[in-house]
Amino acid sequence: MAVVITVAQQKGGAGKTTLAAHLAAAFAARRRVAVLDIDPQRSLARWHGLRGARAGAAPILLSDVSGWRLATELDRLRRDHDVLIVDSPPQIDTDAKLAVRGADLVLVPLQPSPPDLWAAEGTLKLAAAEKRPARLVLNRAPASGKLRQQVEAEIARKGDLLLAATLGNRTGFASAFARGLGITETAPKSVAAKELLALLAEIEGIVG
Ligand SMILES: Nc1ncnc2c1ncn2[C@@H]1O[C@H](COP(=O)(O)OP(=O)(O)OP(=O)(O)O)[C@@H](O)[C@H]1O
Ligand SMILES: [Mg+2]
Repeated sequence: MAVVITVAQQKGGAGKTTLAAHLAAAFAARRRVAVLDIDPQRSLARWHGLRGARAGAAPILLSDVSGWRLATELDRLRRDHDVLIVDSPPQIDTDAKLAVRGADLVLVPLQPSPPDLWAAEGTLKLAAAEKRPARLVLNRAPASGKLRQQVEAEIARKGDLLLAATLGNRTGFASAFARGLGITETAPKSVAAKELLALLAEIEGIVG
Protein backbone atom coordinates (compact mmCIF):
# COMPACT_ATOMS: atom_id res chain seq x y z
CA MET A 1 0.00 0.00 0.00
CA ALA A 2 1.37 3.32 -1.05
CA VAL A 3 1.99 6.33 1.09
CA VAL A 4 0.31 9.48 -0.28
CA ILE A 5 2.26 12.73 -0.05
CA THR A 6 0.35 15.85 -1.10
CA VAL A 7 2.35 18.99 -1.79
CA ALA A 8 0.13 21.98 -1.05
CA GLN A 9 0.57 25.69 -0.43
CA GLN A 10 -1.81 28.39 -1.60
CA LYS A 11 1.06 30.82 -2.22
CA GLY A 12 2.05 30.68 -5.89
CA GLY A 13 5.65 29.91 -6.75
CA ALA A 14 6.61 28.59 -3.31
CA GLY A 15 8.12 25.46 -4.86
CA LYS A 16 5.31 22.87 -4.84
CA THR A 17 5.99 21.47 -8.30
CA THR A 18 9.77 21.58 -7.85
CA LEU A 19 9.49 19.67 -4.60
CA ALA A 20 7.01 17.15 -6.04
CA ALA A 21 9.20 16.40 -9.08
CA HIS A 22 12.52 16.04 -7.26
CA LEU A 23 11.01 13.91 -4.52
CA ALA A 24 9.29 11.71 -7.10
CA ALA A 25 12.52 11.18 -9.05
CA ALA A 26 14.51 10.42 -5.88
CA PHE A 27 11.90 7.97 -4.57
CA ALA A 28 11.70 6.35 -8.02
CA ALA A 29 15.29 5.14 -7.73
CA ARG A 30 14.11 2.62 -5.11
CA ARG A 31 10.31 2.64 -5.04
CA ARG A 32 7.29 2.37 -7.34
CA VAL A 33 6.15 5.94 -7.73
CA ALA A 34 3.11 7.62 -9.27
CA VAL A 35 2.54 11.37 -9.52
CA LEU A 36 -0.82 13.11 -9.77
CA ASP A 37 -1.01 16.61 -11.18
CA ILE A 38 -4.24 18.29 -10.13
CA ASP A 39 -3.02 21.80 -10.99
CA PRO A 40 -4.57 23.11 -14.25
CA GLN A 41 -1.16 24.68 -15.03
CA ARG A 42 0.03 21.09 -15.52
CA SER A 43 3.71 21.81 -14.87
CA LEU A 44 4.35 18.46 -13.22
CA ALA A 45 2.62 16.66 -16.10
CA ARG A 46 4.88 18.51 -18.55
CA TRP A 47 7.94 17.56 -16.50
CA HIS A 48 6.71 13.97 -16.65
CA GLY A 49 6.27 14.24 -20.42
CA LEU A 50 9.90 15.36 -20.83
CA ARG A 51 10.98 12.54 -18.58
CA GLY A 52 9.29 9.95 -20.76
CA ALA A 53 11.71 10.76 -23.56
CA ARG A 54 14.76 10.14 -21.35
CA ALA A 55 16.31 6.72 -21.66
CA GLY A 56 17.29 5.35 -18.28
CA ALA A 57 15.12 7.61 -16.12
CA ALA A 58 13.44 5.51 -13.42
CA PRO A 59 9.79 4.92 -14.38
CA ILE A 60 7.14 7.12 -12.79
CA LEU A 61 3.45 6.82 -13.60
CA LEU A 62 1.43 9.99 -14.22
CA SER A 63 -2.25 10.16 -13.40
CA ASP A 64 -4.39 12.94 -14.81
CA VAL A 65 -7.37 12.29 -12.61
CA SER A 66 -8.61 15.15 -10.45
CA GLY A 67 -11.91 16.36 -9.02
CA TRP A 68 -14.41 14.02 -7.44
CA ARG A 69 -12.67 10.94 -8.86
CA LEU A 70 -9.45 11.70 -7.01
CA ALA A 71 -10.17 9.63 -3.90
CA THR A 72 -11.00 6.53 -5.99
CA GLU A 73 -7.90 7.10 -8.13
CA LEU A 74 -5.68 7.34 -5.04
CA ASP A 75 -7.17 4.07 -3.72
CA ARG A 76 -6.55 2.40 -7.09
CA LEU A 77 -2.95 3.62 -7.37
CA ARG A 78 -2.18 2.81 -3.73
CA ARG A 79 -2.52 -0.89 -4.48
CA ASP A 80 0.47 -1.22 -6.80
CA HIS A 81 2.74 1.68 -5.86
CA ASP A 82 4.87 2.57 -2.85
CA VAL A 83 4.67 6.35 -3.05
CA LEU A 84 2.03 8.66 -4.57
CA ILE A 85 2.92 12.32 -4.87
CA VAL A 86 0.18 14.85 -5.57
CA ASP A 87 1.03 18.35 -6.84
CA SER A 88 -1.73 20.85 -6.19
CA PRO A 89 -2.71 24.33 -7.45
CA PRO A 90 -1.85 27.59 -5.68
CA GLN A 91 -5.25 27.94 -4.08
CA ILE A 92 -7.40 25.96 -1.70
CA ASP A 93 -10.14 24.78 -4.02
CA THR A 94 -12.18 21.61 -3.91
CA ASP A 95 -9.47 19.60 -5.64
CA ALA A 96 -6.80 20.75 -3.22
CA LYS A 97 -9.08 19.85 -0.31
CA LEU A 98 -9.60 16.35 -1.71
CA ALA A 99 -5.85 15.95 -2.22
CA VAL A 100 -5.20 16.96 1.39
CA ARG A 101 -7.95 14.64 2.59
CA GLY A 102 -6.33 11.69 0.79
CA ALA A 103 -2.82 12.39 2.09
CA ASP A 104 -0.77 10.52 4.68
CA LEU A 105 1.49 13.56 4.81
CA VAL A 106 0.95 17.12 3.55
CA LEU A 107 4.16 18.94 2.63
CA VAL A 108 3.96 22.72 2.56
CA PRO A 109 6.94 24.40 0.90
CA LEU A 110 7.62 27.99 1.84
CA GLN A 111 10.29 30.49 1.08
CA PRO A 112 11.56 32.31 4.14
CA SER A 113 9.31 35.35 3.85
CA PRO A 114 6.18 36.48 5.69
CA PRO A 115 3.78 36.16 2.70
CA ASP A 116 4.78 32.52 2.22
CA LEU A 117 4.34 31.87 5.92
CA TRP A 118 0.93 33.58 6.02
CA ALA A 119 -0.23 31.57 3.03
CA ALA A 120 1.13 28.38 4.60
CA GLU A 121 -1.07 29.00 7.63
CA GLY A 122 -4.17 28.51 5.47
CA THR A 123 -2.86 25.19 4.20
CA LEU A 124 -1.95 24.05 7.71
CA LYS A 125 -5.48 24.92 8.88
CA LEU A 126 -6.93 22.86 6.07
CA ALA A 127 -4.71 19.88 6.96
CA ALA A 128 -5.73 20.21 10.61
CA ALA A 129 -9.42 20.36 9.65
CA GLU A 130 -8.93 17.17 7.63
CA LYS A 131 -6.91 15.63 10.49
CA ARG A 132 -3.93 15.05 8.21
CA PRO A 133 -0.32 15.45 9.41
CA ALA A 134 1.44 18.39 7.77
CA ARG A 135 5.03 19.66 7.73
CA LEU A 136 6.60 22.83 6.42
CA VAL A 137 9.65 22.67 4.16
CA LEU A 138 11.86 25.72 3.88
CA ASN A 139 12.65 26.24 0.19
CA ARG A 140 15.17 28.59 -1.45
CA ALA A 141 16.48 29.12 2.03
CA PRO A 142 19.68 31.10 2.54
CA ALA A 143 22.20 29.30 4.79
CA SER A 144 21.56 31.94 7.43
CA GLY A 145 20.04 35.40 7.75
CA LYS A 146 17.68 37.41 9.85
CA LEU A 147 14.57 36.72 7.79
CA ARG A 148 15.13 32.98 7.90
CA GLN A 149 15.58 33.15 11.67
CA GLN A 150 12.41 35.21 12.06
CA VAL A 151 10.36 32.82 9.96
CA GLU A 152 11.79 29.79 11.80
CA ALA A 153 11.01 31.38 15.16
CA GLU A 154 7.46 32.15 14.09
CA ILE A 155 6.93 28.57 12.92
CA ALA A 156 8.42 27.19 16.17
CA ARG A 157 5.73 29.09 18.08
CA LYS A 158 3.07 27.07 16.24
CA GLY A 159 4.64 23.73 17.16
CA ASP A 160 7.05 21.20 15.76
CA LEU A 161 6.03 21.70 12.14
CA LEU A 162 9.21 22.60 10.32
CA LEU A 163 11.31 19.84 8.82
CA ALA A 164 15.00 20.07 9.66
CA ALA A 165 15.97 19.46 6.03
CA THR A 166 15.77 22.54 3.82
CA LEU A 167 16.39 23.25 0.15
CA GLY A 168 18.66 26.10 -0.90
CA ASN A 169 18.18 28.39 -3.87
CA ARG A 170 20.03 26.28 -6.41
CA THR A 171 19.91 26.44 -10.19
CA GLY A 172 20.37 22.66 -10.32
CA PHE A 173 16.77 22.18 -9.21
CA ALA A 174 15.45 24.27 -12.09
CA SER A 175 17.80 22.86 -14.74
CA ALA A 176 17.12 19.22 -13.82
CA PHE A 177 13.38 19.98 -13.85
CA ALA A 178 13.69 21.48 -17.34
CA ARG A 179 15.04 18.11 -18.52
CA GLY A 180 12.33 16.03 -16.92
CA LEU A 181 14.73 14.74 -14.30
CA GLY A 182 15.43 15.07 -10.60
CA ILE A 183 18.53 16.57 -9.02
CA THR A 184 19.56 13.16 -7.67
CA GLU A 185 19.71 11.99 -11.29
CA THR A 186 21.46 14.96 -12.92
CA ALA A 187 23.92 15.90 -10.18
CA PRO A 188 23.89 13.17 -7.51
CA LYS A 189 26.96 14.53 -5.72
CA SER A 190 25.77 18.15 -5.61
CA VAL A 191 24.82 20.01 -2.45
CA ALA A 192 21.29 20.27 -3.87
CA ALA A 193 21.05 16.46 -4.20
CA LYS A 194 22.31 16.02 -0.64
CA GLU A 195 19.65 18.45 0.58
CA LEU A 196 16.99 16.54 -1.32
CA LEU A 197 18.14 13.16 0.04
CA ALA A 198 18.18 14.53 3.60
CA LEU A 199 14.61 15.70 3.05
CA LEU A 200 13.63 12.32 1.64
CA ALA A 201 15.13 10.53 4.66
CA GLU A 202 13.26 12.82 7.03
CA ILE A 203 10.00 12.22 5.19
CA GLU A 204 10.57 8.45 5.30
CA GLY A 205 11.08 8.78 9.04
CA ILE A 206 7.61 10.31 9.32
CA VAL A 207 5.59 8.14 6.94
CA GLY A 208 7.59 4.92 7.29
N1 LIG B 1 15.05 25.48 -4.40
C1 LIG B 1 14.97 26.15 -5.55
N2 LIG B 1 16.09 26.63 -6.15
C2 LIG B 1 16.00 27.31 -7.31
N3 LIG B 1 14.86 27.57 -7.95
C3 LIG B 1 13.72 27.11 -7.42
C4 LIG B 1 13.71 26.39 -6.19
N4 LIG B 1 12.42 26.07 -5.90
C5 LIG B 1 11.66 26.58 -6.88
N5 LIG B 1 12.43 27.21 -7.80
C6 LIG B 1 11.95 27.92 -8.99
O1 LIG B 1 10.92 28.80 -8.59
C7 LIG B 1 9.87 28.81 -9.55
C8 LIG B 1 8.56 28.39 -8.89
O2 LIG B 1 8.70 27.06 -8.45
P1 LIG B 1 7.51 26.01 -8.60
O3 LIG B 1 6.93 26.07 -9.95
O4 LIG B 1 8.00 24.72 -8.09
O5 LIG B 1 6.49 26.64 -7.56
P2 LIG B 1 4.94 26.25 -7.37
O6 LIG B 1 4.64 26.43 -5.93
O7 LIG B 1 4.68 24.93 -7.96
O8 LIG B 1 4.23 27.37 -8.26
P3 LIG B 1 2.66 27.42 -8.62
O9 LIG B 1 2.02 27.94 -7.38
O10 LIG B 1 2.59 28.36 -9.77
O11 LIG B 1 2.23 26.03 -8.95
C9 LIG B 1 10.30 27.90 -10.67
O12 LIG B 1 10.90 28.67 -11.68
C10 LIG B 1 11.35 26.99 -10.02
O13 LIG B 1 12.32 26.53 -10.93
MG1 LIG C 1 3.23 24.32 -9.31
